[in-house]
Amino acid sequence: MTRRKLVAGNWKMNGSRAALGELEAIAAAAAASPAVDVMVAVPFTLIAPAAERVPALMIGAEDVHEADSGAHTGCVSAAMVREAGARFTIVGHSERRHDQHETSQDAWAKAAAAHRHGLQVILCCGETGAERDAGRAERVVQAQIEKSLPENAAGDWLTLAYEPRWAIGTGATPTLEDIAAIHAIARAKMRKLIGDAASGVRILYGGSVTGDNARAIMATPDVDGALVGGASLTAAKFVPIIAAAA
Ligand code: G3P
Repeated sequence: MTRRKLVAGNWKMNGSRAALGELEAIAAAAAASPAVDVMVAVPFTLIAPAAERVPALMIGAEDVHEADSGAHTGCVSAAMVREAGARFTIVGHSERRHDQHETSQDAWAKAAAAHRHGLQVILCCGETGAERDAGRAERVVQAQIEKSLPENAAGDWLTLAYEPRWAIGTGATPTLEDIAAIHAIARAKMRKLIGDAASGVRILYGGSVTGDNARAIMATPDVDGALVGGASLTAAKFVPIIAAAA
């Protein structure tokens, strides 16, 4: 099955209204690369202004709560980000797992909530440096997928992102062989869980992707695109990654 390449940005806790001009240049690059899907996840406060300013670009949230509404002070639901203009959300990012102690079960519930409200989902998995050093990377990723992948997952609404925690924001990346190995076991695990639908689910690589390494990473077997943090904050750094996917 052929899967379209997807380049997704994740602004994390960065950006301001003043930075939204970057999205206009990113949207222009996306329009010039029609074979590539491009999306950018922004902080909750920027979803509405970003969606209004660049309606052609898929704007998303970086997280959602698993409940539809209720007594959850400080949290934001999938319905709320949808109403604000988000068309997708990231769930299970390693920074949420680390900083907010979120589990794979939490990611599963958040993915289900997002799907209920018509959002596409980027579901993250990935080992820590200690887990890789202990030779447990493959088992950790398999276990995360087993616990977080919704039973009805399919490529038209769900994308998996492999982001080794030790590669995020560090400038370090796994070898292409290591990326290919994890993507292959991730696809095999999904196949066990959801059958043939697994062939349609894109698997992104994330962790220190730049304009310099993007082409080689995205040419690696079973890599269907990239989830990009730091290099998505400016068009100057993000556009070359979009071009590398084209
Ligand atoms: O979600 C994207 C991510 O965690 C990778 O961040 O800054 O290493 O590209 P970065």
